[in-house]
Amino acid sequence: MKTRVDLREAARGLAFQLGDVWASPDLLESARLTWRGRMINERESASVFEGLSAQLERTSASPELVSEVRGFADEERRHGELCGAVLEALGGQAIYEADTPESFPQHEDVSLDEAVLRNVLSICCLAETVAVALIGAERLEMPEGPLRELLSGILADEIGHARFGWRYLDQVVATLDPKTRASLGDYLQVAFAHLEVHQHQNLQLGSSPAASGASLGLCDASAQRALFHDTVERVIVPRLEAAGLPARRAFALRHEAAAQA
Ligand SMILES: [Fe+2]
Ligand SMILES: [Fe+2]
Repeated sequence: MKTRVDLREAARGLAFQLGDVWASPDLLESARLTWRGRMINERESASVFEGLSAQLERTSASPELVSEVRGFADEERRHGELCGAVLEALGGQAIYEADTPESFPQHEDVSLDEAVLRNVLSICCLAETVAVALIGAERLEMPEGPLRELLSGILADEIGHARFGWRYLDQVVATLDPKTRASLGDYLQVAFAHLEVHQHQNLQLGSSPAASGASLGLCDASAQRALFHDTVERVIVPRLEAAGLPARRAFALRHEAAAQA
């Protein structure tokens, strides 16, 4: 079952204009595909944070913490509209048929606190931290202008989403016993495997746009994949190891988790 998601009105209401950007028809088509993909990803991220806030609400987390995460869902919804506005400015339509969303992982095989930590690790410490690196690199290559400004706003929010995860981990890490740390290590294997599949889907090789593509947010997929791997191995894994989680082993064994899935 597909659901129609229509962001046209919201996107057009933002009246985004690209400014002085020239692009060939091929480049324009690639840019439309890229911003359409982003719009969909951002919109799906809103559901993910809604799921996380609902799960957090069932724990002893403070109402402030729950509402912070609910605010992230609002930000992701807004990112979806912003990306839709870019798509419209490129001549596309901010409307798509969404697959029935995957249900939010409840991880009922472990305690509620561990289930929340699994999701915070996967969403904030992994996916959002990678998003910060990739968007940050893209922004650096982009010339000054309205699109760079738009991306800067999105990046600032993604930094907040990633930081939330690392802060949350720091707060709960002292309460974790060795058995829970080992169990989280097993989970990280699966989370790393999923993250890699998702990133490789987004960063399809064979798309090395012309230099002028940077002004439209088009990136060299192989460079972005390399940055993704660097971010995981040099930032995420060491940070998780410092928190006492066996992340290096989990990352090394991620393909085994993928094979069992
Ligand atoms: Fe976002
Ligand atoms: Fe985000």
